[in-house]
Amino acid sequence: MIRTSLIKTASPALKLTTPRLASSSLRSTSVLSITLGCHVSRQLSTSSIRPNESIFTSKQIHSESTKGRGKQELHQASLKEGSPLTQHDAVSTVPVMVRGDWVLFHPVYSSEELKAVEVLHRNPKTIGDKFAAGLVKFSRTIFDFVSGYKHNVNPPTPGMTLEELRKAGYLLSEKQWLERILFLESIAGVPGMVAATLRHLTSLRLMRRDSGWIHTCLEEAENERMHLMTFMTLRQPSVFFRLMILGAQGVFYNLFFLSYLISPKICHRFVGYLEEEAVVTYTRCIADLEAGKIPEWTNLPAPEISIDYWRLNPDAKLLDVLYAVRSDETTHRFVNHSLANLNPATDVNPFALREPDMHVKGTKIEFKRSESEDYVQKSHELMQQRTNELPPQ
Ligand SMILES: [Fe+2]
Ligand SMILES: [Fe+2]
Repeated sequence: MIRTSLIKTASPALKLTTPRLASSSLRSTSVLSITLGCHVSRQLSTSSIRPNESIFTSKQIHSESTKGRGKQELHQASLKEGSPLTQHDAVSTVPVMVRGDWVLFHPVYSSEELKAVEVLHRNPKTIGDKFAAGLVKFSRTIFDFVSGYKHNVNPPTPGMTLEELRKAGYLLSEKQWLERILFLESIAGVPGMVAATLRHLTSLRLMRRDSGWIHTCLEEAENERMHLMTFMTLRQPSVFFRLMILGAQGVFYNLFFLSYLISPKICHRFVGYLEEEAVVTYTRCIADLEAGKIPEWTNLPAPEISIDYWRLNPDAKLLDVLYAVRSDETTHRFVNHSLANLNPATDVNPFALREPDMHVKGTKIEFKRSESEDYVQKSHELMQQRTNELPPQ
């Protein structure tokens, strides 16, 4: 059989267990990809990394940056600023004291990649697809209605001022944009964690390998949480807003948990459609900001946490953050629609070792199952090539 199957039992060669590359973490992946000079993975999209800085050494760079400060100096700073252990607001302590590389990976994009994103929609084909797409559409409509937002590039009365457009609900103010983003990001971080949890438990329970899905799901969950942490630095939500998130999380987490037990495929499809909407939302936000319709944000500097996470230039603006977040959402769109085309019980996650760059993910809605097969096959060949190049031990 020349065509390699995604089904791990049918294709032992594709098991992600090559001893030297057994870890499916993206750090080891990136070593593989970059060493091979293969312009495909997220880690290769590093043209915006500052000189002398490598994604592999981010941990060391941060260690170095704290090494320069003596223990005494750090202790004094901690006393002055309050102990990070006793400040309840973890966000505010991060830039001060916690400089370690605490995230699973840093999504870094070239400027061409950031602009390569297109608003795409996948036509529902199966009943499950239609159900997932309908549910997302329904949720979006309700959410827009409740928040009083009626997006319209051509408002009924021409010549309306910014204030009038905002008052009539055709434009969101910066406060409304933030509320919308914070609420959505607090929900968006749930599915990846639920999927990872359930797959983790399945792996433990059945005592079999997961085929690389858990890490991708965890990365998505963390990526969404980093979106939330970034925008949190711009606005502290009210008690009422926090209560709304609490209620929504309680309902959504449990519903998604039960749904994922019943049909992981439909759940990934649902997330794929949800991410389509996220790309639309950020595209509109970027368009409004670039058109001067959110003047409060025009020259707003990017939060420090975002500069660190996306490896942005030190003088980056909030607009750069929005472009990076939109690219992340595009990845979620592509990955979830592609995963929904696979058999979650038997197929290998094609993105466990590497991912296409934004020129693919931004312009293509999904990998069909046969494309995922080809992609895994190529990953396997690259791994083999890399293994052959390593000096004998
Ligand atoms: Fe997000
Ligand atoms: Fe997302």
